[in-house]
Amino acid sequence: MRRTAPASRRFVRELNALPRVRRAVPRLVRQLNVYTHGHHKAVVGQHAARTAENSAAFLLPHLTKGARVLDVGCGPGSITVGLARHVGPTGSVTAIDVVGGIVQEAAAAVRAAGLENTSCEVCSVNELPYAPGSFDVVYAHQTLQHLSDPVGALLEMRRVVRPGGLIAVRDADYSSMLGHPASPAIDEWRAIYREVCVRNGAEPDAGRHLVAWLLAAGLPLDAIQYGASVVVYAPGQEPWRGNWGTAWAERTRHSDFGKQALAYGVATAAQLERVACAWEGWAARPDALFYYVNGEALVRVPLDGSESGQGSESGQQPRDPAAAPDSTGTPVAGGAAGGAVGGAVGGAAGAARQAAAAASNQTRCAHCFVTFATPAELAHHEIHHCFPDDLEEVLRRFPVGARAVDTVSCRQLDVVGGASNPNKAHSSVSARDVRRGLVADFPISRLRLV
Ligand SMILES: C[S@@+](CC[C@H](N)C(=O)[O-])C[C@H]1O[C@@H](n2cnc3c(N)ncnc32)[C@H](O)[C@@H]1O
Repeated sequence: MRRTAPASRRFVRELNALPRVRRAVPRLVRQLNVYTHGHHKAVVGQHAARTAENSAAFLLPHLTKGARVLDVGCGPGSITVGLARHVGPTGSVTAIDVVGGIVQEAAAAVRAAGLENTSCEVCSVNELPYAPGSFDVVYAHQTLQHLSDPVGALLEMRRVVRPGGLIAVRDADYSSMLGHPASPAIDEWRAIYREVCVRNGAEPDAGRHLVAWLLAAGLPLDAIQYGASVVVYAPGQEPWRGNWGTAWAERTRHSDFGKQALAYGVATAAQLERVACAWEGWAARPDALFYYVNGEALVRVPLDGSESGQGSESGQQPRDPAAAPDSTGTPVAGGAAGGAVGGAVGGAAGAARQAAAAASNQTRCAHCFVTFATPAELAHHEIHHCFPDDLEEVLRRFPVGARAVDTVSCRQLDVVGGASNPNKAHSSVSARDVRRGLVADFPISRLRLV
């Protein structure tokens, strides 16, 4: 069994040994996200079968003509194309992905669809090259699960969406992937896949973590609408059903997933071949079925006076808090019946909260710049989630050598240093992941000492 770490990981470990560069490493680690799937044609083919209708159904009712949309981790762009059609020629979609080759494929899909309201750009969600408040809607489909710092990504997504705009995220939960007939080899596939993700610092069960990540990114609970939907590969749904099995056979044999499983020593070549054959056998049986759950979260970013100011820089109009508009100006109905994600801003309660926030100039956290609906919420945030931009205080609370737990992913961490808010995000500590030997920044809001 081979146990050689990939070159990128060996590089990070070697860097970690050098005290002078240790501070720089957390940022580097975030940028070295290892994408578990890779962009083998079998992967891209599966992703290209996705549409806005089958992969963004929970968002579409809120996506109206004229909206400016950011599609994060666009892959081959098949969802992008549908989003662009929904917002129409007066709207726009910016599709981004960190891999140049797949951005070219997305651009080709956009051209083939004859869309002129869509641009495709290469960049990372960790460092979006857009001004605050540039978008009405930011969508990330099956992307957060691949990131070693999903909360950092959400902070960036929040930065570029305007107050009153929407953040939408949808991610699978690999533990929920089940099928018929029973197959020990397909169970083995699920276990191998999940372990490879963990080795990559990613979260294969991301769907169930979305709310926790959004809260860690400073979004208030009552602004989040969470749901789930199931992807089904059912008998009779050909070629959709069969392709799921044949693609996973090919992916297991030839894509980055299989290669990483071997490189990490998570599976042997014989195991992978058994898994690939099991998927082929599954695909060949017309009665075989499979399904999995996706978590879906839709967040209305809170409105507030100071952020409206940012919005006007990007051409936004001031908002009427009593009739908070949706992404293109359509009023969102308040109250339980009206509004899916209007809770934070819609209806009488929302208007009262907005009025309270407007009456106070102390709803914006001076440390991490997150704005809350009421001074009380800000006070709670300051006490429980945020700490001054003061390295001494960070280190007093999380002394070097302490053992901490990342409450989002339950990882055990050794604290190796402190960071004083270089990106104007939450204070963070540098911590070594006990199992994986990497050093990464973890926001204090996600940590508790053990
Ligand atoms: C599973 S694919 C999803 C593609 C598309 N959203 C879909 O659902 O078909 C995840 C995509 O996220 C991209 N990605 C990974 N890390 C990223 C990052 N830091 N910034 C932007 N995109 C990233 C990958 O290159 C990949 O194309």
